[in-house]
Amino acid sequence: MNAIDLLNTLNSKYLSAVDFHRNLSDLYTWLSLEGYAAWHSYQMADELLMQRKIKKFIAENYNMPVPDVYNGSVDIFENYTSNLSRDKIPADRRLDIIKQTWEKDYIDWENAALSAYEDIAKRLLELGDIVAFNFVGRIISEVAGELARVKNKVIELQGHEWDMPQITAEQLELTDIYSKRLNELRFGDELLR
Ligand SMILES: [Fe+2]
Repeated sequence: MNAIDLLNTLNSKYLSAVDFHRNLSDLYTWLSLEGYAAWHSYQMADELLMQRKIKKFIAENYNMPVPDVYNGSVDIFENYTSNLSRDKIPADRRLDIIKQTWEKDYIDWENAALSAYEDIAKRLLELGDIVAFNFVGRIISEVAGELARVKNKVIELQGHEWDMPQITAEQLELTDIYSKRLNELRFGDELLR
């Protein structure tokens, strides 16, 4: 694989990553957990911004057109909701979805993403493409930061044994935090200047 192929793989993975966070945002909105939905709306926007930067990086550094390649669709929202009406969902099922998505889906996703990006960086280094290697290195730091935030959150949730009153109570605060962070993304400044 040459550098363009490696960066195109990175682009494909980011397209899926945006999809992953969009699914989880929809799922938590459906479950009336607006703070968790806000968390994933922020990640969706942040990773979409990165996907745009990846495309820009490829165009500006290699001159070649790179089409978006989608590797299947993410169907987490569909899998968990499967035609259930949200006013009919049993409380234990609701809690189970919350646990599964945090402990399993989210952590597994980010772990897999991190090792895929590390592999891409390693190959870029082997090719001697230091500029691209540094570019991917910054992405790796961001993903590692996200994974650390998720792991901390899961430890906190496990610490109070997935207590629903506490989960409900934290939604408003998380919505505030991620509303601010979304506003700080400044897409125009980041992409157009
Ligand atoms: Fe992510």
